[in-house]
Amino acid sequence: MGREGASDQRDHWDRVFEGAEDYFGPEPSEFGWRALEMFRAAGAKDILEMGCGQGRDTWLFAREGMRVIALDYSESGVCQMRRRACQMCLDPNVSCVVQDVRAGIPLPDSCVDAVYSHMFFTMELWEKEIRYILAECLRVLRPGGLNIYTVRNDHDPHFKKGLHWGEDMWQSPTGFVVHFFSEDKIRRMAEGYQVLQVREFDDPAKQYTRKLYEVVLRKA
Ligand SMILES: C[S@@+](CC[C@H](N)C(=O)[O-])C[C@H]1O[C@@H](n2cnc3c(N)ncnc32)[C@H](O)[C@@H]1O
Repeated sequence: MGREGASDQRDHWDRVFEGAEDYFGPEPSEFGWRALEMFRAAGAKDILEMGCGQGRDTWLFAREGMRVIALDYSESGVCQMRRRACQMCLDPNVSCVVQDVRAGIPLPDSCVDAVYSHMFFTMELWEKEIRYILAECLRVLRPGGLNIYTVRNDHDPHFKKGLHWGEDMWQSPTGFVVHFFSEDKIRRMAEGYQVLQVREFDDPAKQYTRKLYEVVLRKA
């Protein structure tokens, strides 16, 4: 399968976000709450969130007084997130960045305590792009900083279903290309990090339950 139409994924996210104010629901994710605990325990104050979407977890961290750099390539998602942040008077704690992370993270070295992403690495990203982005995260993290993320895994009901896009990616009937991860792949890709945790959890959605890995890495 090819990359023809790969750039459509960004347009697809724009359309989906324009069509539904709270596409993933109005509340912060459960994973966001767990990450918040980890940030508190680590004393993390400056957070980079990659693939923030409409911002359901961004507000959670900002409300805690953390400074969040919220990045996404969907302009619609980022605009909605910014509008909500203003309504909640949280905008002083949130910086918005519209960027395709495949082009790099537009931040200086060693400037954040943690990188957070929920179902971002599990999107249409080739392995070499994921390795590059993980290396970019290492670059912007302060020594000992955390990289906490989730990905859909090889026990997910959609694994190997639909149109094969290449590597471990399949395009679902919703039109999204999803990259599925084994635990082994996560560990292989964690170069330069100490792997603190890889844990499976269920994420119930309307029609099915996603199977995710929660991954906690520390800059070695
Ligand atoms: C599954 S959604 C998750 C959104 C949000 N983290 C949440 O849980 O509500 C994935 C997000 O990643 C963004 N995304 C996908 N590929 C991207 C890329 N290459 N650069 C920046 N953002 C990207 C999409 O626009 C979308 O907002």
